[in-house]
Amino acid sequence: MLHTRTKWNINNCVQQIGRAGVIQNYFNENKDKLKFSDPKDYYHFQIASIPPSVYLSDPLIKFINDKYEIEDAGIIRIEPNRCYKWHIDTERGVGINMLLSNSRSFVLFGKDCGNPSEYEIVEFNYQPGVLYWFNTQIMHTVINFEQPRYLFSVEFVLQKDKLTFDMATYQ
Ligand SMILES: [Fe+2]
Repeated sequence: MLHTRTKWNINNCVQQIGRAGVIQNYFNENKDKLKFSDPKDYYHFQIASIPPSVYLSDPLIKFINDKYEIEDAGIIRIEPNRCYKWHIDTERGVGINMLLSNSRSFVLFGKDCGNPSEYEIVEFNYQPGVLYWFNTQIMHTVINFEQPRYLFSVEFVLQKDKLTFDMATYQ
């Protein structure tokens, strides 16, 4: 049976927005004071919320919030030598993400390739300190090595039925 290849590449998965310096500075100044949630409380992530007064003082985040209201924003931590399972986010159609600190880590997007035991993959390399639209509805994983990895991530009020990557990034 022929497997139809739809055209896909990293541009379907992420799109660069710009620098969010306030968020990076907040992380740099508060790194040792952040209180992370118990993984069992929030989709099994370790997350430290950021107060709206902080994230909305970043002009870029404020600009996005004026268009798509932010429900919650925080910093997600993953331990050294761990990876996430391949997944599609349950509620979020799209997120905005920014890598704050890491050592060696890999972000992969994958899709079915006609062989049930394999995915076709593309790798995404975050530029640290740069904010990206992130398509949470394409299978993805993160593989992390030596140091804890910290990622700024946002949830919008509109969930996947109302706000998708294509809607958010459509010019
Ligand atoms: Fe995810």
